[in-house]
Amino acid sequence: MGDQAPSGKLALQTIAMPADTNASGDIFGGWLMAQMDIAASIPARARARGRVATVAVEAMSFHQPVHVGDLVTIYTDIVREGRTSMGIDVETWVTRSPDQEIFRVTQAHFVFVATDGAGNKRALPEAAS
Ligand SMILES: CC(C)(COP(=O)(O)OP(=O)(O)OC[C@H]1O[C@@H](n2cnc3c(N)ncnc32)[C@H](O)[C@@H]1OP(=O)(O)O)[C@@H](O)C(=O)NCCC(=O)NCCS
Repeated sequence: MGDQAPSGKLALQTIAMPADTNASGDIFGGWLMAQMDIAASIPARARARGRVATVAVEAMSFHQPVHVGDLVTIYTDIVREGRTSMGIDVETWVTRSPDQEIFRVTQAHFVFVATDGAGNKRALPEAAS
């Protein structure tokens, strides 16, 4: 695992499949970004207690390629709360057979906004105590 450990809470786990590869046979970066967006939306929806929208993806880094068959695990951490928005750090780690080696493949900072039924921003509710 190197000198680092996953940071944040486990939000989503999936397996990288052959349908998600790019022309080089590695996993397509867009698929990974979509998984990170889904993962980040889980704590965002819980904190907002309702609908949210992705408003920004910042500092997206791809450290290593993902291979078909890798176990993909995504960790999230709400690191900032504004009036209507939340800043969420997202890290993706993979577990690779046969040695069950674990390493970080991506990280990014997502910004979500709480929205109402019409898609307009709304203030975050009080945090649950
Ligand atoms: C989300 C949305 C309703 C926000 O409405 P808006 O009028 O743009 O709202 P604002 O500019 O006042 O921004 C709202 C909050 O988001 C933050 N924000 C907006 N754009 C941001 C950006 N690019 N980076 C970081 N934060 C941003 C603002 O600072 C503000 O935070 P705060 O209320 O906590 O202080 C609107 O931008 C929208 O519908 N965007 C499209 C969302 C979407 O479809 N996402 C999926 C993409 S496929």
